[in-house]
Amino acid sequence: MRDPFRAICDDELERRWIWISLIMAFVMGGILGLYAVGNNLHPPSNVETIDSSRLHLTEEFAEDNLGVKENDDGSLTVTMVAARYGFFPPVIEVPSDTPVKFRIASADVLHGVHVPFTNATSMIVPGYISEINTSFPTAGKYSFLCNEYCGLGHDSMWSRLNVVPKAEFILVVPEPEEEEAEAEEDVGDFQI
Ligand code: CUA
Repeated sequence: MRDPFRAICDDELERRWIWISLIMAFVMGGILGLYAVGNNLHPPSNVETIDSSRLHLTEEFAEDNLGVKENDDGSLTVTMVAARYGFFPPVIEVPSDTPVKFRIASADVLHGVHVPFTNATSMIVPGYISEINTSFPTAGKYSFLCNEYCGLGHDSMWSRLNVVPKAEFILVVPEPEEEEAEAEEDVGDFQI
């Protein structure tokens, strides 16, 4: 077979090194691909927009609504806001071996999230809702780290993620009576 690089290069040694560098690039690309497939890494692909300046006025990302919720099928949805310099709520507790969907929105600038030793990682782009679907096979304390430079406090922007054994997990749901009482108080305060 005629060497396709003969047209651009006369020197045989140079052509050999062109081939060697191309093969090295493909081998490295292949290793990255195998690593990604082997560790079940995949780019988050949720495209859903939101007005980042009015997160507190949306139902889903209002302060009272953040945190862990159980879905009808037993899976969990965790709603969070990323803002300089923290994730809210700052402590999340989920059970092991349970499908968890994180829905995270930024209230200001570009943030990211990475949970070391798991496949949970995503950019959090203002104006979009980031979704991470995962589950945590191993119970333990994990860190929820911001991995996109977002300002001077970037390196202290992190949350705690506690994964507890599935049998020990109790979802704390705020009691409706308390909420109503609080709501009445609020109205009372407001009228004064
Ligand atoms: Cu948020 Cu870095």
